[in-house]
Amino acid sequence: MPFDIKPVSSVMGARVTGLDLSQPISDTAENALKAAFLQYHLLCFESRPLSVEKFLVFARVFGTPQLQLLSNLQDNNFPEVSILNSTYKTRHDKPKDLAKLRLSGWHTDDSYFEKPAKATLLQALHVPDKGGQTRFINTRLAYERMPEAVKNNVAKLEATHCYDTVRAAARAQKLTAEEQQKTNDVVHPLIRTHEETGRQAIYLNPNRTDHIRGKSRKESDAILDVLYAWLIKKDFQYEHNWRRGDLLLWDNRCLLHSVNVDFPVGQRREHQRILLQGTRPV
Ligand SMILES: [Fe+2]
Repeated sequence: MPFDIKPVSSVMGARVTGLDLSQPISDTAENALKAAFLQYHLLCFESRPLSVEKFLVFARVFGTPQLQLLSNLQDNNFPEVSILNSTYKTRHDKPKDLAKLRLSGWHTDDSYFEKPAKATLLQALHVPDKGGQTRFINTRLAYERMPEAVKNNVAKLEATHCYDTVRAAARAQKLTAEEQQKTNDVVHPLIRTHEETGRQAIYLNPNRTDHIRGKSRKESDAILDVLYAWLIKKDFQYEHNWRRGDLLLWDNRCLLHSVNVDFPVGQRREHQRILLQGTRPV
């Protein structure tokens, strides 16, 4: 089956067209897609919405789907798939200060686990007429462009990641007792090395990274603030405008993402999501 992989920006991302995701993927296509994933960090597949079952089959091309933390979002028959409904059902669901919504904060999925998900697959089932884009930051590129003096300062630092942190603008969803037991604080290197490409990237999760190990809160905040300000420069960003059926696959080891939560009340915004098992960051 002829298909095409074309970059969508100079920062990251490629669009894949001409591939029927509901059919088995050939070895040749699989190899090309895996190489493109490592090169571009983000792939956008044009598709129609897949059934939950077909979505899982497709995800397995790239890795092993894992159970996600929030059990209330899991699909009834295929619990590795979460259904994420971000629709504002009434005007009361949409706060005036949109920074109060957790989705709007920059983050990488799952960093509160010892072995965070290496990648996320997200497929749009319903999209609003405007707004609702997902934005990405290339933290590998941000690291490579960082002044050498800053690189040297942060090279050996480790950071503690928590389910929630006072550093984030919005509070995380409340957990059940069982979920709480799975989210003890973990320590990860602040600069991580991608286990498949060997490239280094900043591993700072503004929604979860609480402090630098061994530093006072003040010292730690100063370092994290400098890194954050550097990361969110437009030079490292790409914004995806969703079309119904779009399926994104992104690399959580070298990208951050956030959602433009400014979209109309009453318009459905819904995705299905799979996370792929990763390894302990080094
Ligand atoms: Fe996310």
